[in-house]
Amino acid sequence: MADRKVLTAYEWKENPMDLLQHRWALLSAGNEEIANTMTVSWGGVGILWNKPVCFAFVRPQRHTKQFMDRFDKFSLSFFEENEKNKKALAFCGKASGRDTDKFSVCGFEKEMVEDCLTIAQAKTTLVCKKLFVQRMTEDSFLAEEIKNKNYPYGDYHYVYIGEIEQVITEEDGE
Ligand SMILES: Cc1cc2nc3c(=O)[nH]c(=O)nc-3n(C[C@H](O)[C@H](O)[C@H](O)COP(=O)(O)O)c2cc1C
Repeated sequence: MADRKVLTAYEWKENPMDLLQHRWALLSAGNEEIANTMTVSWGGVGILWNKPVCFAFVRPQRHTKQFMDRFDKFSLSFFEENEKNKKALAFCGKASGRDTDKFSVCGFEKEMVEDCLTIAQAKTTLVCKKLFVQRMTEDSFLAEEIKNKNYPYGDYHYVYIGEIEQVITEEDGE
């Protein structure tokens, strides 16, 4: 396994827009015994309450939501861009942890870092401590077309905001 560095969010140099759009990510929560992961491509990083934060958006029907609610930390994992990883992330974005152990099917090893579930094979991992969760409401949409296009069944996302405690990466920082 390549050398990994632990950076602060401010030292991290990769472009999260590019990573999310092209490589997607796995959103994971749990512990060594019970855990789940799912593919996400919507999300973001930024600064809020003077902290480096990460945003994740989870629809209510996702099995992952139970783990996001039960555990204090979650991780966002980005993988090397190759066919194998693209297939694995497509699988984790279709199969549900309700009836499939996505970790074993994809050969992903769980690794606890500071009480946060991470995936050993990831190239870059954001270790996040939950700070906030709130569900989007129908009346908070200012653009009707966004609501109609994305929520024909009213399954508005829950917005999770986590403080980025560490960025574990094989990429160079400073
Ligand atoms: C590229 C891609 C991006 C996705 N992004 C999100 C997302 O941001 N939020 C979400 O709730 N579901 C998203 N999904 C859908 C979930 O990954 C999918 O429903 C998954 O099977 C849920 O697994 P679970 O039931 O084990 O939680 C995405 C799927 C794909 C393929």
